[in-house]
Formats: sequence, structure tokens, C-alpha cells
Amino acid sequence: MVKKNRIGILGIGAIGSVIASLLHQTAAYKLHYYHRSIKKNIKISVDNKTITIPIRTETSVDSAPDLDWLLICLKEHHYATATHWFEKLIGPKTNVAIIRNGINLKEPLLPFTPEENMVECMIDCPVQPSENGYYRQLKKPMITVPANALAITFQSLFDAHQCQVTISSTFKTESWKKLCESATLGAILCLSGETCWIFKDKKLQLLYRNILRETVQVAIADGANIEENTFIDEMLTKLLRYPNNKGSSMLTDRLNGKPIELGAKNGIIAKLATQYHLKTPLNDLITILLTHTNFGNS
Ligand SMILES: NC(=O)c1ccc[n+]([C@@H]2O[C@H](COP(=O)([O-])OP(=O)(O)OC[C@H]3O[C@@H](n4cnc5c(N)ncnc54)[C@H](OP(=O)(O)O)[C@@H]3O)[C@@H](O)[C@H]2O)c1
Repeated sequence: MVKKNRIGILGIGAIGSVIASLLHQTAAYKLHYYHRSIKKNIKISVDNKTITIPIRTETSVDSAPDLDWLLICLKEHHYATATHWFEKLIGPKTNVAIIRNGINLKEPLLPFTPEENMVECMIDCPVQPSENGYYRQLKKPMITVPANALAITFQSLFDAHQCQVTISSTFKTESWKKLCESATLGAILCLSGETCWIFKDKKLQLLYRNILRETVQVAIADGANIEENTFIDEMLTKLLRYPNNKGSSMLTDRLNGKPIELGAKNGIIAKLATQYHLKTPLNDLITILLTHTNFGNS
């Protein structure tokens, strides 16, 4: 009998559920679901259909399950509470895919496995929790990974018709461009509590430009290949085309009373700026405000 690929998914939230629904369809995989509470089903609604997949979640593990892959679908601020999972689930032969927003995704995992066993994944797949308990997947997932030895093996895990995995030789630049935009837009929307309609105001456009410029300068210092003025002009044009009701994940987290993924956004920008001896007063201010502002979170 052919040995099945043993794949663990850690964090069965929005992205973890989508990834699970994609891999579940392949008989060649034995899937393991790791979550901090019991979940009995993966529930996704996509293309006007609902998908319910019964699963058995594990909320703790005693011994290493000898996984071929561990796909980590946690938010940045969940990592501090997840080290016991990393210790138990990552064996010497386990490849690790880190699927989250931000940059330097391998860093928190380096105490648990060598760099060459990890693949960083930038995912484009808006998924929202809905009132009926289903995660609403708004489009086909697209994952970008850096061109390295593990990339093709990771790509082959997915059916290309259902999830496009792109191998990029400019991953760092792509990740930084995404971060520059999401941290700038996210901070302004999150702090104002408003959607993109506010950018009708020229003062807000100027603020967007100034925050973005700070983030781009850190990106360039960190090795991203971005032409500062061209990129900022492109982002401004893009911003002004957004519908009035467009929000951001940081705003959504604020409105839902959930912790904001600050360490993956303005927090990492402010931290790296210090490392590169750059001044980022706007990102510093945003980081302080969002660290210490309680939007009703318990
Ligand atoms: N959702 C999107 O549209 C989207 C799109 C692109 C990128 N991303 C990125 O993808 C990453 C994951 O986001 P997400 O939206 O999937 O987040 P999420 O819905 O919060 O999912 C994370 C899940 O991990 C669980 N968890 C947290 N700490 C844990 C621990 N110590 N042990 C086990 N399970 C734990 C959480 O449990 P609880 O349910 O108990 O909190 C939650 O269900 C983030 O970096 C996000 O920015 C998300």
C-alpha cells in the first residue's frame, strides 16, 4: 500500500479552513487538524455553495505524529501561544509552510527547524466569518512562495484548478509591496474606524502618502526592489479607485473586538526601522496607539 502524505494543519480558522477544504479532496493525504478548541466540521461557503467536512481536531499532542508537512495557518500574535505545537509537530523530516501576512515569516520557527525545511506563503484569499458559522470564501485562493528547493513540492500539494500556487523569484519585494499597502491602509482605517470613503478628503490622501513613504523606505533598506515615487503614485491611484465601502483586515478585527495583527504590520515596520537606523514617526505612533488602544477587546 502506498504511504499517504501526512499533512497537519495548525489553526483551523478562516485560512486553515480553506486550506483544509482544498486538501481534503485528495485521497493521497492523511490530514491532521490541530486547533486550540474542538471543532467538529470545516464549514466553507464558496460560489453560492456550502461545504461541510466532518473532522477530528486534536487540541494537544503527546508524541510526534511524524508529519510530512505542517501547514501553519495562525495569525502573527498567535505564535507566542503555539510554541508547544511547534515543539511536538515539527520533526526532522517535517516540511513547514507558514501561511500568514507579514514578512520574515520563518523567524519565529527557526528555534524548531532549519530554514531550508520551511516555505513562506503569501496568500491572497479573502475569507470572512459569517453568522451561520460558515467561512465565506470570496475568491479562488492564490498563494505565492519564494523560488527555493521546497517550492515545487509545496506547489504539488494543491490542485492548480482550485488553488494557484505561484513560485516567485521576487518574493521579498512582492511581500513588502503587500505589507506597505496593507499596513498603511489598515492603520488609517483601523484608527479612524471608517472605510475607504474617507480618502475623498485630500488630507487623508496626504497622510496615506506620508505613512506609505516611511514604509517603503524601510522596505528598500530591507532589500525590497521598489522604486519609491513610482510605487507611491501607483498606490495612490489604486487607493482612489477603491469602493467607498472597502475596509481592511485591521478594521475588521477592530470592529469585531479581536486583537489586531500589529506585529505583522506597522509593528514590524517600526521594529525594522530601528534596525536600519531609519526614522518612522508615523508608524511608531500607529504602533503605540494600536498597542495601547482598547477597542473593546477583553
Ligand atoms: N482571513 C483572510 O481573509 C485572510 C486573507 C489573507 C491572509 N490572511 C492571513 O492569514 C493568517 C491567518 O488568518 P485567519 O484569518 O485564518 O485567522 P483566524 O481566522 O483567526 O485563524 C487562526 C486560528 O488559529 C487558532 N489558534 C490561535 N492560537 C492557537 C493556538 N495556540 N493553538 C491552536 N490554534 C490556535 C484560532 O483559534 P480561535 O478560533 O480560538 O481564535 C483561529 O481559529 C493571518 O496572518 C492573516 O492575516 C487572512
